[in-house]
Amino acid sequence: FYSKDLIGMKFIVTAGPTIEPIDPVRYVTNHSSGKMGYKIAEEGQKRGAEVILISGPTNLKPPEGVQLIRVNTTLDMFNAVKEYFDRCHALIKAAAPLDYKPEVVSDVKIKKKNIENDELNIKYIRNPDIAAYFGKIKKDQIVVGFAAETNDLIENAKEKLINKNLDFIVANDVSKDGAGFKEDTNVVTIIDREGIITDYPIMDKSEVAKIIIDKVKKLIEDKS
Ligand code: PMT
Repeated sequence: FYSKDLIGMKFIVTAGPTIEPIDPVRYVTNHSSGKMGYKIAEEGQKRGAEVILISGPTNLKPPEGVQLIRVNTTLDMFNAVKEYFDRCHALIKAAAPLDYKPEVVSDVKIKKKNIENDELNIKYIRNPDIAAYFGKIKKDQIVVGFAAETNDLIENAKEKLINKNLDFIVANDVSKDGAGFKEDTNVVTIIDREGIITDYPIMDKSEVAKIIIDKVKKLIEDKS
């Protein structure tokens, strides 16, 4: 049984990886499966919120009742968020967008060269930082980020919280057992604007989603 305590609220959730093409047959990406973001979208939808799920390529079945927008590149994800941001109460950025993309995308398949010590060098340039952009232009919206780290979890997450002007950040050490990419569980630490750091034990991603949605709801209610 779910209480519909989020009726009238509108959330954007981003999930999954992005992909950046190199040529018509190759691309770069990362290990994100989309599970974390899909669980957040599901939790919001079940409790009555209107949820727009902006997802990079995943194999997951979208939760029933959410508006799914599929994207490939980080720029696609940025543009999709831009389209809906003004009319939402919260943006929850569980996605793992690629920070860099190849500067040049070849129109044709890149061929091996028949020479000794053949190498392929690809120059990568920066993609927009979606969380930082919307964190900076937000009005009343709540913007929640994640921090996927392999070292100095708290330090790096705090820096992202401030630099991206987020309302809170969900830090996960993706090198820990049962945490991060592809797993059904996660181990998170939430850091808020007051600098309060809360460590959570290993739990199902659906339980992490509930904690995040409860926190977002409270922040929205505090504003009105
Ligand atoms: O998808 P799963 O397999 O379930 O895995 C879950 C997860 C590990 C992907 C998730 O828990 C997580 O940590 N998501 C954030 C991944 C990430 O990109 O982290 P980051 O520390 O590089 O980025 C910090 C924040 O900025 C994130 O909210 C990210 O969405 C956002 N970002 C990053 C780069 C970029 N160009 N634009 C962004 O908005």
